[in-house]
Amino acid sequence: MKPVLALLALATLGAAAPGSQATHDELSNRAAWPNGPFVTSGRWILDASGKNLTYAGTNWPGHADVMIPEGLQYQSIETIVQKIKSIGMNAVRLTFAIQMIDEIYANNGKDITLQKAFVQALGQANGTRVLNQVLAKNPRFTPSTTRLQVFDAVADALAASQIYVHLDNHISKGMWCCSGTDGNGFWGDTYFSLANWTRGLAYMADHGKGWPALVSLGLRNEPREPTSNAALARSSYNWQTWYAAMRQGADAVHAAHPALLIFLSGLNYDTYLTPVVQGTALTPGTGRFSAGDFKGYADKLVLELHNYENSIGSCDTLKGNLERNGFEALKGVGGSVKNVFPVMMTEFGFQMDDKTWKGVYASCLAGYLPKIKAGWTIWVLAGSYYIRSGVQDYEEGWGLLNHDWSAWRSQSYVDGALRAMIRDTLS
Ligand SMILES: *[C@@H]1O[C@H](CO)[C@@H](O)[C@H](O)[C@H]1NC(C)=O
Ligand SMILES: *[C@@H]1O[C@H](CO)[C@@H](O)[C@H](O)[C@H]1NC(C)=O
Ligand SMILES: *[C@@H]1O[C@H](CO)[C@@H](O)[C@H](O)[C@H]1NC(C)=O
Repeated sequence: MKPVLALLALATLGAAAPGSQATHDELSNRAAWPNGPFVTSGRWILDASGKNLTYAGTNWPGHADVMIPEGLQYQSIETIVQKIKSIGMNAVRLTFAIQMIDEIYANNGKDITLQKAFVQALGQANGTRVLNQVLAKNPRFTPSTTRLQVFDAVADALAASQIYVHLDNHISKGMWCCSGTDGNGFWGDTYFSLANWTRGLAYMADHGKGWPALVSLGLRNEPREPTSNAALARSSYNWQTWYAAMRQGADAVHAAHPALLIFLSGLNYDTYLTPVVQGTALTPGTGRFSAGDFKGYADKLVLELHNYENSIGSCDTLKGNLERNGFEALKGVGGSVKNVFPVMMTEFGFQMDDKTWKGVYASCLAGYLPKIKAGWTIWVLAGSYYIRSGVQDYEEGWGLLNHDWSAWRSQSYVDGALRAMIRDTLS
């Protein structure tokens, strides 16, 4: 269904002639969507009717310094959502920072206003100017609208277009991610408190109960070696610590919002989950992944992996790597696969121009992911950021959209590969 029709149907419901069949069907479709809660069964995700589904979507960052979804100084939320919908995507990985929730707790339970968030991140002059641009493009907001109210509005607009929301805890301190020296690498790193993290996950999962589109939550983006913290790296950067922490995060999310699917991401920037899939020891201990450790909700777990082997020379090599890194969990039988899961590639991406998408890496993924029926969310929707690594109005050359989020950055990629990748994944 085209979003224009969906919105029209909604807008005219109140005034529609009684008995209008089309309107009635639209209404019952809407009531059924997203038809959750979702569960997993072997390698599939199933909706409440037992029908399998997956994601074909994109990342919409909301975790950087301002800690609200990007792009709103250039376009309205609805315009951005229409772009996503217009090519048939069905999911958005919406990222957030734990710092946003820490600041709510530090402020006696009250969320920060947009006024404060923009000035804090961009300075008085630019913060005020960019906030005014956001208000001009999104007139429903005011300077005292809170950050979470912006997330709410994004989630509402995605629901109106029947696009699933997957919340992703991207980082602890709100900033561009990720490096080994950014203080957010692993539990215990400078900004990465286990207690703040489980508290923040539970808060967002609970808050998201009000979002009909919210169907899943990723516990933590790209766990990695905290290379500027040698003592922590030596004592903790391993599968045993990873498992203990992920279990706590999963318990916190499940207790707060039992309907959600919970995504686990692996070590080394979420590039592999081999011991989980193969059921080998979670070293340096001898324990192994066990569904029984996720009491009453083992059927909510999904694996997510990232891949940025952009200069790979052979598609067969890339596929072999992906299978070993965890995509073999989709096979379900044989080989060394002990634990079967749905697996999604929640990040891959490349320079958005007229030729990079024709290279080995991008064209391999465009064929392979739909073929193995693995879901995915491409990095990244953003054409520019409020601020990235200290640079305001940062141009994102990997963005699906251009600088002011008004058009596709590479129309040739969208028409030449992306639309087919979406269609083949969802068919
Ligand atoms: C659902 O499962 C069938 C195989 O049983 C597969 O052919 C189809 O592509 C799956 N659909 C999705 C969206 O994954
Ligand atoms: C304020 O914004 C302008 C225009 O985008 C930019 O040139 C300038 O560098 C920004 N100031 C700071 C401190 O980043
Ligand atoms: C955890 O949150 C509190 C506010 O509740 C904050 O003061 C503290 O700095 C946070 N810890 C880290 C490591 O960010």
